Amino acid sequence: MSVVSVADVENANGVLVVGARDILTPLAADRAKELNVRIERSNNPAKEVTSPVVSPSRPTIQLSAKAEPAAKPTANAGAVQPGALSGALYRRGAPVPAAMRVRGDAASASRDDRPRAAVIGAGHVGAMTALRLAETSLFSRVMVVDIVPGLAAGLALDMWHSASLRGFTTRIEGSTDLSALEGASYIVMTAGRPRQPGMSRTDLTGVNAEIVGNVADGIRRYAPASVVVVVTNPLEEMTHLMAKRTGFPSARVIGMAGVLDSARFCSLVALEGIARPQDVDAIALGSHGAEMVIPLSLAKVQGRPLEQLIPKDRLAAIVERARDSGAEVVKLLQKGSAYFSPAESAASMVAAMVKGGSDLIAACVQSAGAYGVDDTRIGLPVRLGTDGVKEIVDLPLRPDERTALAAAAGSIAKRISELG
Ligand code: NAI
Ligand code: 2OP
Repeated sequence: MSVVSVADVENANGVLVVGARDILTPLAADRAKELNVRIERSNNPAKEVTSPVVSPSRPTIQLSAKAEPAAKPTANAGAVQPGALSGALYRRGAPVPAAMRVRGDAASASRDDRPRAAVIGAGHVGAMTALRLAETSLFSRVMVVDIVPGLAAGLALDMWHSASLRGFTTRIEGSTDLSALEGASYIVMTAGRPRQPGMSRTDLTGVNAEIVGNVADGIRRYAPASVVVVVTNPLEEMTHLMAKRTGFPSARVIGMAGVLDSARFCSLVALEGIARPQDVDAIALGSHGAEMVIPLSLAKVQGRPLEQLIPKDRLAAIVERARDSGAEVVKLLQKGSAYFSPAESAASMVAAMVKGGSDLIAACVQSAGAYGVDDTRIGLPVRLGTDGVKEIVDLPLRPDERTALAAAAGSIAKRISELG
C-alpha cells in the first residue's frame, strides 16, 4: 500500500493506475479532478480493494474522492490548466495565485489568509447560518447569496453592524449573483422552499430540485474546489443532486441532517430530567425523515447506557418525537420550518472542517459499501476533515439496527432513483 500524491497525479498522462489498497489523498483527488486525470484502481488481489468503512479503533482515510460525472457539464467551468496551482492547495492556505483571488479584492485577499465561506439562500436557515459562521471569526468573509434583490445585501449589512457588539472580524456581504461564490472554500446550500404544515419533505422535491440544479452549476463554475454542505430538503435527494450536478467528489458534498437529528434526540432525552443535553451521547443515522435510525444500543448518558436509565416504551416515544421534530416545529410555526438548530448544526460542521476536522458526527454521505449499503446517500457516522468527509466510521450496531439502516437505504435509493 502506498500513498498517491499530487505529484503522481501531475505526472500522469490522463490516466493514473493505482493499486486497490493505495491511499489517494484528498488533495491528490482534487488535483486529478482539476486536471481531468482519471484514477483507475487495479484489481490486483495482492492489493485488495480498500474498504471505505473504518473501525473506530483503526481509522483510515475513506477513498470517496472519486470524481463523479456531472449531469450537465458547463463549458470551462472549473477548468484548471496543468501546472496551475491547485485549488485544493489554496484551501490549505497556500499562497493564492492571482487568478484565484476574488475579483477586485486582491489586496484584502493577500492581507487575510483565512478561508472564505458562502451561504446560498438568505432565508431563515441561511441568514442564521451566515451569522453563526461569521461569529466564529474563522473566515475572512462570509458571502450570502439570494435571488431576492437586496435581501442578502441588507441582511449582511445588518449582521455586520453587530460585529463590534459581538466582537467578530469576519466580513459578511450579500449578493444576488452566484459569481460572488468565487474564492469560497466552504459553501452552505440552504436555498429552497421550506415545508408548510401538512407537507412532507418529499413534497418539496420538484421545486427544490430545480433550485439545487441551478445553484450547483454556479458552484461548479465559480467555486470548483469548494466543500458543499447541503441543507435544502428533501435532504438525501438534494445532496445527491448537488453531487451529481457539480460532479464534485463524494467527499466534498455533505448533507446536513444527522447533527441536527442527533442534537434533537439529546435535547429531548434531557427533558426527562436525567441529564443535561450535552451529557447525552447519541447519534441519528439513516434518513432525515421517517427512516431515521437512532441506535439505542450506543446511546449513553455520561457513559451509562441510556436503555438502563429510561424505560423502553418511554425511550421509543422519545425516538419518535425526535424523528418528527421538524414537523412538530412546522405545525407550531404555521409558516416555515425550524432554523435556529438547523443553522447551528450546519455552521458547526463547517467550523469543524476549518479547524481541521470533526469528532464523530452523523452526516449524509455516499455510502460506498459502508454498513452493507452499496451506493446511496444516507446518514452515517463520519469524521470530517479540512477537505470534507475524511472517513466513514464502522460502529458496532446491533443486528436490528443494521437491518433498520439497510431498510432506510432502500427507501432513500428508491426516492433518489425517482429524481430522474
Ligand atoms: P426560507 O424560505 O426562509 O429561505 C429560502 C431562501 O432561498 C429564500 O430567501 C429564497 O429567496 C432563497 N432562494 C430560492 N431560490 C434561490 C436561488 N435559486 N438562489 C438563491 N436563493 C434562492 O427557507 P428556510 O427556512 O431557510 O429553509 C431552507 C431550506 O432548508 C428548505 O428546503 C428547508 O426544508 C431546509 N431545511 C433543512 C433542514 C435539514 O435538517 N436539512 C432543516 C431546516 C430546513
Ligand atoms: C427540519 O427537520 C424542516 O428538515 C427541517 O426541521
